[in-house]
Amino acid sequence: MNNFKKDFPILENKEITYLDSGATTQKPIQVIEAVEEFYKKYNANPHRGAYSLSMEATEMYENTRTKIAKFINAKHREEIIFSKNATESLNLIAYSYGLDKLQKDDEIVISIMEHHSNLVPWQKVAKTTGAKLNYMYINDEYELSDEEIESKITDKTKIVGITHVSNVLGTINNVEKIIKYAHKKGAVVVVDASQSIPHMKIDVQALDADFLVFSGHKMLAPLGLGGVYGKREILNDMTPFLMGGDMIEYVHEQTTTFAPLPNKFEAGTQNVEGVIGLGAAIDYIENIGYDKIQEIEAEVVGYAKQELAKLDFLKLYITPNSKNHSSVISFNIEGVHPHDVASILDNEGVCVRSGNHCAQPLLRYIGMDSTCRASFYFYNTKEDVDKLVCALKKAYSMFEKYIVK
Ligand code: ALA
Repeated sequence: MNNFKKDFPILENKEITYLDSGATTQKPIQVIEAVEEFYKKYNANPHRGAYSLSMEATEMYENTRTKIAKFINAKHREEIIFSKNATESLNLIAYSYGLDKLQKDDEIVISIMEHHSNLVPWQKVAKTTGAKLNYMYINDEYELSDEEIESKITDKTKIVGITHVSNVLGTINNVEKIIKYAHKKGAVVVVDASQSIPHMKIDVQALDADFLVFSGHKMLAPLGLGGVYGKREILNDMTPFLMGGDMIEYVHEQTTTFAPLPNKFEAGTQNVEGVIGLGAAIDYIENIGYDKIQEIEAEVVGYAKQELAKLDFLKLYITPNSKNHSSVISFNIEGVHPHDVASILDNEGVCVRSGNHCAQPLLRYIGMDSTCRASFYFYNTKEDVDKLVCALKKAYSMFEKYIVK
């Protein structure tokens, strides 16, 4: 058995093969205990009280911000803003930056691979400002070609939104190249790292990303906590998206001045337990190291691709270039609805996601309504893959006679 499974109580307590880490990862005991300890010993509202307990809570909350800044190599700790999730992070950027800075006939460029959260907010910005929303499409290998990137990002492009890793296809996009090219054209780039940061080292300065968003719960932390990284000079020049407590400097009857970064973007009481949990999750990931995580994933995902390719009733939606593929495998049993397949897998204790994965334009583009998706993390093993394969064979045997060929 994979040594890491023992750190995850749910994987010990339940007879399941968990292959839905793209939706949310399971939580190690270290994260669960950090949250418990916070409530047992430190719970108070940060930034609100002059008493020691509140000051301790503030210190823990702010220390985690520093930890995250170091983790992604941000230049300044105040470049990290906590949010509810990656969706809220992307909305913050769309509302506070997009609505304010874009004008009629400017262009927003995103890829057809985007999750709805990096797509619908840009539709809103385009509609409100009169900007155009253009798409970079994928080729037959489920990748963005250099030609596609260079033909879609133009002198009129003001914002490029790009997912680092597709939550449906697992394609790893060349964000370095996209950022470099977009900057040449004068555009700012918003990177959705929700599906990449659990699996690979992110260095925002090396990438030169203007904005980068992530989701805590996809990297071992509790649900309900996300983050925005933004370059300080850009964040300083933006108006807050949410107004209320703790994001202000002075409030008068008719006017308000805002607090400096990062508080200006953190209105209201925050998800402090989530932040504390994220700090513990980062410690856990750093302790294992991305090299080890990638070594395990390469072995397990490589094995999954090999074994799934042997099932001639299965269609896989993955790039053949394994260096551009992460830990997500979408598939269908041709002629069987993915929800039916997922239900049979569930009967066998195998948890996969089925549906459109919040990426309807992508699914439509590849000619599908929905797929099943197995997404792996370092706590998965080759035995998990064998269980998936076995359950898929069972599903196929149940549906075979009904499939119209
Ligand atoms: N965005 C998450 C997923 O792809 C929920 O499953």
